[in-house]
Amino acid sequence: MNQLTINADLGSQTINRHIYSHFAEHLGRCIYGGIYVGEDADIPNTRGMRNDVVAALRHLNIPNLRWPGGCFADEYHWRDGIGPQANRPKMVNTHWGGVTEDNSFGTHEFFELCAQLGCEPYICGNVGSGTVQEMQQWVEYITFDGMSPMTDLRRENGRSEPWRIKYWGVGNENWGCGGNMRPEYYADEYRRFQTYVRNFGDNKIFKIAGGANSFDYNWTEVLMANTRGGNGKFLMDGLSLHYYSLGNSWPPSLAATSFAEGDWFNILRDARRMDELLQRHSTIMDQYDPEKEVGLIVDEWGTWYTVEPGTNPGFLYQQNTMRDALVAALHFDSFHRHCDRVQMTNIAQTVNVLQAMILTEEGSDRMILTPTYHVFDMYKVHQDATLLPLTLTSDEYAYGDNAIPAISATASRDSAGNVHLSVSNSDPHTDHTVACALRGMKVGMITGRVLTAVTMDAHNTFDEPDRVQPTNFNGASLDGDQLTIQLPAKSVVTLALGA
Ligand code: AHR
Repeated sequence: MNQLTINADLGSQTINRHIYSHFAEHLGRCIYGGIYVGEDADIPNTRGMRNDVVAALRHLNIPNLRWPGGCFADEYHWRDGIGPQANRPKMVNTHWGGVTEDNSFGTHEFFELCAQLGCEPYICGNVGSGTVQEMQQWVEYITFDGMSPMTDLRRENGRSEPWRIKYWGVGNENWGCGGNMRPEYYADEYRRFQTYVRNFGDNKIFKIAGGANSFDYNWTEVLMANTRGGNGKFLMDGLSLHYYSLGNSWPPSLAATSFAEGDWFNILRDARRMDELLQRHSTIMDQYDPEKEVGLIVDEWGTWYTVEPGTNPGFLYQQNTMRDALVAALHFDSFHRHCDRVQMTNIAQTVNVLQAMILTEEGSDRMILTPTYHVFDMYKVHQDATLLPLTLTSDEYAYGDNAIPAISATASRDSAGNVHLSVSNSDPHTDHTVACALRGMKVGMITGRVLTAVTMDAHNTFDEPDRVQPTNFNGASLDGDQLTIQLPAKSVVTLALGA
C-alpha cells in the first residue's frame, strides 16, 4: 500500500532554484559541436551558439551554468581563451581524449552563452596547475569597472563594461584530477587562493570550495574545521560534493541502453544513495555550522556509463533512457528534502556528455531532447517554491535479494499558491496506486503530465526523437481531500493541484 500525506498549508524552506543548474565542460562534444559551432557554421547560430540548443535550454529556466570544468578547469589558463580567436594558443585536452583545444570558446564566449540562456555564470578556477595571480586577474578581468591592466585588456578585446559573476569555484576535485591533494593541504591552498578572489564594486562573489568525492566524509570534516578566518567567519559560502550513479563500479562498466533489469535496479539504488550522502555530509556540516551559513553544492551528479559504441572513450558520450529519467527524479526529490543545506546542484553535463539534456548528431544539425530533459522540464515548477512537508509509505520494488522503495515523491507550493506534486515509480513491471491525503487545501482541479515508456531502455534517437516524451496524465482522481494516483510502471508524474 502506497500512502502519501501532504500538508499543503505548512512548509518553511525554499527549494533554491539553483538546484536545477547545469555543468558544461570542455569535454568531447559538450561545448564544441553541442553548444558552440562558431559564427561561420552552417548550423543556425547566434554569435556561434546553436540556436536550437539555446532555445531548448532556455525553456528549462536554467539558473546557472558551471564552466569550464571539471578536470579541465585545473588545466585551463584563461588568458589562452581571450583575444582574436585566430591568435589564441592551442593546448592538449589531456583529460578528455587528448584532442587539441583551440580555445575558440573562452571567457567572452561563455558570458555570451549565459546571456543567451538567461542564466548566471558559475566559473571554476584553476588551483591544480594555476597560480593565485592568475585566478586573481581572471576575477579582475571579468568584474572590475575601473582603470587597471586587466580592464584595459578586456576593453582591447571588445568589452568595456564589466560582467557580473556571483558563483566562483576554487578548484575542482582537488583530491584527484585537481592536484591529488590531501584535504589538509587543499584547505590551506583554498584559504590562500580565496583571499585574492576579490569583490570589485558591488559584485559579491559566492566562493565555493572544492568538496568531497562521494562518501569521503573526512574531506568534508577537514574543510569545515579549517576554513574559518581570523574573525571566526567561514572563508567559503559553499562546499561542493560530487557523486555519480555508476552501478557500484569504477571505471563505469554498465551500458546506457540494452541493459538487463539488474542494471536498472543497481543504478536506481545508486541514485537513492544521494539521500544518505546528503544526510551524512550535512550532519558533519551541522556540527561546525549549525546556522547553515555554508551551502552544500552538489556541482556534479548524474549517471556515468560506458560510451556509445564507436565513439571516443574520452568523450563520455552516452545515450539517455527512461532509467535516467528516474535517476533525475530521485535526485531532485532528495535535493528538495535537504534544501535547508543544499543550495545548488549541477547535473553532469548539459549536452552530449554523461547524463545530458540534449544530444546532437555529429556533422549535422539534428538534436534530440533526452528523457532527463523532460524531467527537468516537468520539475521546473518546484524552482524557488516552498517545500511541503510530506510523509510517504511505499511498497518495495525488489530485485533478487535487494529492494528499494518503489515510490518517491516531492511537493511544493509556488509564490502564486499553486501546489505541485511530483511522484515516480521505479518499479519497471508493476503499476502502483498511491493514496494521497491532501491536508490544508481544497483542491478543485488537477492537471498533470506523465513520462513513461514500454521498455526500461526506451530512449530518443535522431530518427525517432519523440519516442519518450511527456503526455497528459489522466490517472489522478479526487474524492474530497483524498487523491488517488494510478502510477504506471517506470514513470514520472507531475501534478498541478488548483483550487
Ligand atoms: O564530469 C566528468 C568529470 O567527472 C569531471 O571533469 C570531473 O570533475 C569528474 O571526475
